[in-house]
Amino acid sequence: FASLVAVFRSTRVCISSSKEATSSPCHSKDIWRVVHSFVALMLAQKRITVDGVVASDSQQVIDEFSHIRLDDQVLQANTPRYIMMNKPAGTVCSNIDEVYPSLFNHLRIKHIAELHIAGRLDVDTTGMVLITDDGRWSKSITLPSKDCRKVYRVGLSKVIADDTCLELEKGVQLQGEENLTLPAVLEVISPKEVLLTITEGRYHQVKRMFAAVGNRVVSLHREKIGELCLDVEIGQWRYLTKDEV
Ligand code: URA
Repeated sequence: FASLVAVFRSTRVCISSSKEATSSPCHSKDIWRVVHSFVALMLAQKRITVDGVVASDSQQVIDEFSHIRLDDQVLQANTPRYIMMNKPAGTVCSNIDEVYPSLFNHLRIKHIAELHIAGRLDVDTTGMVLITDDGRWSKSITLPSKDCRKVYRVGLSKVIADDTCLELEKGVQLQGEENLTLPAVLEVISPKEVLLTITEGRYHQVKRMFAAVGNRVVSLHREKIGELCLDVEIGQWRYLTKDEV
């Protein structure tokens, strides 16, 4: 059914602009029926390919990035975009804000409205943000169940206490939340600077975790997400390679 929808979407324009359709406009239900039979016929004749493989099953799962062809005509060939950016302080991870400029202002590319951020950062936080139009990919980064590690370099207002490592490893109670945070890993760089690795992305999570153990975050920078290390200058961005996605 999903592939029918995709082919319907792609072929709809041709059908509705054909001579017959123009001279005798018909209901979308009728068009749908025609397309349905047409696609069934094309599938039976093995003329449709999805990602280079002949499709014969109308139940085949496809998405907006599946490459669909009818004979040698491309019906759908959207390429997902994956971007790494180094977020400057004082920018927001949303399209519009009344106070701060949007991070998206740094991206001079087409169709920006189709993009979203996989794991937002606060306005004062700097470092790696991943931007994409592939919702499945961003979920693989943000859902705690996917266990994708994010590494933050954290500056603290007070010297780190001896028991903080253990507390964060065990999980802490954030104010107003029921569940403890998932186990985190802390590496002490200096008395007031640490690297914190977490797999969740709750609201102001790092700041609230340190507040829960009696400290305060004064600077926050995300260095790593999964296997990706930040390697662009502040305010700069690049597309990820195939191997990095
Ligand atoms: N945790 C925070 O508190 N802020 C961020 O921007 C990211 C993680």
